[in-house]
Amino acid sequence: MPLFLTLCRFLTSICILSCCGAMDTIAPGQALVGKDRLVSSNGQFALGFFNTGSKSPNTTLNWYLGIWFNRDPKLTQVWVANGDNPLRDHTSSELTISNNGNLVILNQATNSTVWSTQAHTTTNNTVAILLNNGNLILQKSSNSSDVLWQSFDYPTDTFLPGAKLGWDKASGLNRRLVSRKNLIDLTPGRYSEELDPSGTNQYIITLLNSSIPYWFGGIWNGKYFTLVPEMEGAQPFNLTFVSNDQEKYFTYNLLDETTVVRHVMDVSGQVKTFIWLESSQDWLVYYAQPRARCDVYAGCGPFTVCNDNELPHCNCMKGFLIRSPKDWDLGDQTDGCMRNIPLNCVDNKSTGSSIDKFYSIQCVTLPHNAYNIEAATNAGKCETVCLSNCSCTAYSYGNGGCFVWYSELLNVKQQQCNGTSDINGGTLYVRLAAKEEQSRKNNIRGMMIAISLGVSSAIMFPLALVLMIWWNKKKRCNFALNNAQGGNGIIPFTYTDLQRATKSFSEKLGEGGFGSLIGFSCNSNKKYLVYEYMPNHSLDKHLFPGNANILNWDTRYQIALGVAKGLAYLHESCRDCIMHCDVKPENILLDESFIPKIADFGMAKFLHRDFSRALTTMRGTIGYLAPEWISGVAITPKVDLLIGNVGSMVDHKLHGDVNLKEAERACKVACWCVQDNEADRPMMGEVVQILEGLKELGMPPVPKLLQAIAEDSHSV
Ligand SMILES: *[C@@H]1O[C@H](CO)[C@@H](O)[C@H](O)[C@H]1NC(C)=O
Ligand SMILES: *[C@@H]1O[C@H](CO)[C@@H](O)[C@H](O)[C@H]1NC(C)=O
Ligand SMILES: *[C@@H]1O[C@H](CO)[C@@H](O)[C@H](O)[C@H]1NC(C)=O
Ligand SMILES: *[C@@H]1O[C@H](CO)[C@@H](O)[C@H](O)[C@H]1NC(C)=O
Ligand SMILES: *[C@@H]1O[C@H](CO)[C@@H](O)[C@H](O)[C@H]1NC(C)=O
Ligand SMILES: *[C@@H]1O[C@H](CO)[C@@H](O)[C@H](O)[C@H]1NC(C)=O
Ligand SMILES: *[C@@H]1O[C@H](CO)[C@@H](O)[C@H](O)[C@H]1NC(C)=O
Ligand SMILES: *[C@@H]1O[C@H](CO)[C@@H](O)[C@H](O)[C@H]1NC(C)=O
Ligand SMILES: *[C@@H]1O[C@H](CO)[C@@H](O)[C@H](O)[C@H]1NC(C)=O
Repeated sequence: MPLFLTLCRFLTSICILSCCGAMDTIAPGQALVGKDRLVSSNGQFALGFFNTGSKSPNTTLNWYLGIWFNRDPKLTQVWVANGDNPLRDHTSSELTISNNGNLVILNQATNSTVWSTQAHTTTNNTVAILLNNGNLILQKSSNSSDVLWQSFDYPTDTFLPGAKLGWDKASGLNRRLVSRKNLIDLTPGRYSEELDPSGTNQYIITLLNSSIPYWFGGIWNGKYFTLVPEMEGAQPFNLTFVSNDQEKYFTYNLLDETTVVRHVMDVSGQVKTFIWLESSQDWLVYYAQPRARCDVYAGCGPFTVCNDNELPHCNCMKGFLIRSPKDWDLGDQTDGCMRNIPLNCVDNKSTGSSIDKFYSIQCVTLPHNAYNIEAATNAGKCETVCLSNCSCTAYSYGNGGCFVWYSELLNVKQQQCNGTSDINGGTLYVRLAAKEEQSRKNNIRGMMIAISLGVSSAIMFPLALVLMIWWNKKKRCNFALNNAQGGNGIIPFTYTDLQRATKSFSEKLGEGGFGSLIGFSCNSNKKYLVYEYMPNHSLDKHLFPGNANILNWDTRYQIALGVAKGLAYLHESCRDCIMHCDVKPENILLDESFIPKIADFGMAKFLHRDFSRALTTMRGTIGYLAPEWISGVAITPKVDLLIGNVGSMVDHKLHGDVNLKEAERACKVACWCVQDNEADRPMMGEVVQILEGLKELGMPPVPKLLQAIAEDSHSV
């Protein structure tokens, strides 16, 4: 008899596998095993077993049952049944309907139920169906409106159009998103997005275990959540907020069925709305909240400095090492960093040399949980207060007086240094063992610098190639590595090498006798390009107020031309276009001869040649003008004088040192580049020709944006 049953089961599996591969329903007596899938009738979603984890022999794969986008070859999941209970051996598991009517994952080897829908049902007169919107439902076979259970009620990290985020008041069900633990472990992680449990009509993002909300969507005003104004207006979806006796929830619906959208509580602690670009077969981030990665509460963990303008965003403070390198590489940096050398506080009695030292981190937002020491009226006293208590980890002395910290340092964020200002932050003095200070000094010579994903226009060809390989097909990392060893002058570094050589990347952009080394490092999810030290920092250091050095006109023009050439290469000469998406002065590094190099491809996108349609849909989100350009130096109320008096527009710090012909070209091209109609804007290649004087331009119309700014500044 058991043999017969087994045979039966075997035959039904074969059936699903072969003849019913595109079915969207499981009925009693049927089972989903191995590579079987349910596919929604519109072909959009698939349900089946999948695995995560690397292919290296020593790691055991985690198997899950889940739903993913059927068109996306990367199996981007939208729902997972057994996130906290992965299967080690999926060959003995099956998805079926149990005798009591629930949909279950059975482990045949142990006869155990790994997961169940746990609906209130006692007989197997039920069927499970994968709907066109990605919702998996369990319903009575006799009555299709009697839904016993649905995956939309138990979301994991993804909120699909048509699902609800919020409460069912009668049952107490709270539908919220919880991030996964890391990129391969689908266990519930640290962050959640939910309707405010305190009752206001807004959604919030919370650090789960501490219940600290660190981002608020703002109150629903009938059209959108007030702190997310970009939700209003032309969108591929509309929003609905419902609050009545039975339920209170937020939902969204696609206006055009062919658009593919997902909203995810990301491992990074940001919620992200993605849109699928069919042309590039990839996802585009449409919104991210909080907008800046560094605004995620404790997102980089203790003893780190978070920098939104660099990749990786999280870096250990000097003297600290990554606490859990494996998690860190898998996108979960919340464990932060730990001391390289323990503090020597108790030795204070013996010799002077063992007393702890402080080192400064400038222009940062100060950590949370500070103690204000009013008695300490100068920096020296403040330092003494901190030194005299072994649990003191840092101090800062500034306009607000003396602050000390007695615990882990969280939420330290790099700010723009603008001379003397202490307004957004200050200088943090972090306590280190004296030995650490010593070893740091000895190590500084001969180190190289790792700048994440920077690229030099001079060495553009080999590096851009490497970049393309990485970013386009992350999994080809090893291929790039092997190839690169072949003698084209690019050196592959291991991540550990870099970490060691740069003291956990703390020496980035440090001052010292650094040599020129060019290469890269490739390690699971971390990619670095290593290249020669850029003694002249980034362009913003030279352009904005409070910066000491004034670049002369020729240098400025050469920089502009160099950047234009670099971008023209990225946009037009590579087979797959690279949109940098974040060109701003901070990302333009200058070598000793002020030759510019474009850095930080953190927001870069690879687009295939037929991307124009995609861009048209995305307009308004892809483009980014750094606020400095709008409010500060580059554009002034004098725009309306554009036609008459180019000379008066030029930075007054140049004191008239300016080539008027070049200035006119630059102004014209700038104005053409910000035209309202994107078809009017020149290609990057044309920009180069214009700047070089090889192509003439007519007078541009004044774009709306500039008009608005000009009016604004006049009315102040
Ligand atoms: C439904 O459950 C009954 C026992 O409750 C069982 O005898 C029957 O075989 C099941 N039907 C199917 C199709 O599995
Ligand atoms: C695999 O595990 C064995 C034993 O634990 C170890 O000796 C070996 O170095 C590991 N291999 C890799 C590639 O990690
Ligand atoms: C699984 O359960 C069935 C019936 O409940 C039993 O006959 C069978 O021996 C069990 N198999 C294992 C491996 O425990
Ligand atoms: C089908 O189920 C719905 C929802 O439970 C119920 O309101 C309706 O009466 C049922 N119809 C029949 C014919 O049983
Ligand atoms: C949250 O806290 C619980 C209980 O203290 C613990 O089991 C769980 O691992 C924590 N989760 C995270 C993501 O730290
Ligand atoms: C939102 O769009 C859906 C689908 O087009 C439509 O059915 C619904 O009525 C719209 N809701 C609002 C509030 O506009
Ligand atoms: C320990 O260090 C503090 C702070 O520098 C100093 O005031 C104190 O005298 C030292 N104690 C001893 C025993 O050296
Ligand atoms: C150090 O500071 C902490 C926090 O204020 C305090 O609890 C502790 O008693 C202090 N230790 C000493 C030795 O003063
Ligand atoms: C620095 O920034 C602050 C605030 O952003 C501003 O008020 C101040 O004027 C700036 N300082 C200089 C020297 O530009």
